[in-house]
Amino acid sequence: MKKKKTQVCIIGSGPAGLLLSQLLHNEGISSIVIDRQSREHIEARVRAGVLEWGSVEALDEAGIGARMHKEGIPHAGFELAFNGDRHRIDIKGHTGKDVMIYGQTELTVDLIARRLEQAGEIVFSASDVVPLDVKSPSPKVRYCANGENYEIECDHIAGCDGFHGVSKSAIPDDVLKTFERVYPFGWLGLLVDKPPVSEELIYANHERGFALSSMRSKTRSRYYIQCSLNDKVEDWSDQRFWDEFSLRMGPQIAADLQTGDSFEKSIAPLRSFVAEPMRYGNLYLAGDAAHIVPPTGAKGLNLAIADVRVLSRAFVEHYKRNNDAYLDRYSEICLKRVWKVERFSWFMSMMLHHFPNMSAFEKRMQRAEFDHIVGSETASRSVAENYVGLPLEI
Ligand code: FAD
Ligand code: DHB
Repeated sequence: MKKKKTQVCIIGSGPAGLLLSQLLHNEGISSIVIDRQSREHIEARVRAGVLEWGSVEALDEAGIGARMHKEGIPHAGFELAFNGDRHRIDIKGHTGKDVMIYGQTELTVDLIARRLEQAGEIVFSASDVVPLDVKSPSPKVRYCANGENYEIECDHIAGCDGFHGVSKSAIPDDVLKTFERVYPFGWLGLLVDKPPVSEELIYANHERGFALSSMRSKTRSRYYIQCSLNDKVEDWSDQRFWDEFSLRMGPQIAADLQTGDSFEKSIAPLRSFVAEPMRYGNLYLAGDAAHIVPPTGAKGLNLAIADVRVLSRAFVEHYKRNNDAYLDRYSEICLKRVWKVERFSWFMSMMLHHFPNMSAFEKRMQRAEFDHIVGSETASRSVAENYVGLPLEI
């Protein structure tokens, strides 16, 4: 078994693990990142597309915002639509801030490139990754790469390995509490190299189901429709997708829709999930390893970024000022925000989707939520504040 040593061993090289590694490097704290997937696989994954302004600032502070500012598109608002009626949420007017359209895929490419430029160590395609002795002062992570077994001795382990990772399972069952809601539908998303149908995002509730118009650039659109969990990507030809998307967006938007051949199409399930606590001994969970939100509020990536901002600050206090107060409060600080973001993502999901066996009362409630937002500046401001990102209270 080959041995290595570092201060923080990071399991998972998604946005949470990579950004944490960068923030620690900037403060002179060493880390090694380990992922079970290859670099090519990680850099090709298509996921989120909207950054809160606080996330934009965090990426700037980390020194990796240059391409995001060059290629990303600031958005000052987005639209809600309900059976053809439309209402714009003026994010900038209500909060003074924008959100930034910049794909998670691009952000991940930027982070990996920067870590490797700076001789940061990322182990790709590792197998049998296991966190060990997480309660002891010298926890370890074992893994296998290129046919060799390795053991990394460290002070702390950051579990940034997503919902299906191994880190959570190092927390004993009698300590870990989990909270979950699984939604009875998925999102079918596609990418197409055609200009977006509208300059801003449109979240639409239609009696046939939810639809979302988003984008990656002025020439690349990302569109989603709610689908059945039994559906397979192969069931949805591009033509079937365009027909359904047009119906749900309504004739006004459909008239401007430029269709074409998609070059990516995938189905994602929707889930709300929280694991408590987010710290156990010297193991800290961050991002999707600790919580999942349904994508309707565009919050998953942003929550992951918020967690590692808190965690990196806590490590800096630990290593530079011998102060463990932030590490001790890591779980408490993060969970307060996590639950508020879970609430918003749940609220948006409940308002905008068609649920199987919905009663007439529930349908009227959805419409009343929409009408309340349309008619109340306070309600619109609340949506804008949540969408642009709640303040990070460290
Ligand atoms: P991840 O990005 O999941 O990264 C975890 C990393 O850990 C991965 O690289 C994985 O390979 C690695 N890993 C897993 N297990 C192990 C192991 N045993 N050992 C070592 N490494 C391991 N959010 C939105 O806001 N909008 C969207 O449209 C959207 N779409 C999504 C679509 C899909 C299919 C998924 C899965 C998520 C989507 N999300 C979306 C959520 C958002 O992308 C996540 O919240 C975000 O990726 C969280 O970042 P993370 O770094 O915590 O986790
Ligand atoms: C995108 C995804 C979301 O979940 C969302 O709420 C907004 C945009 C996107 O992939 O572009």
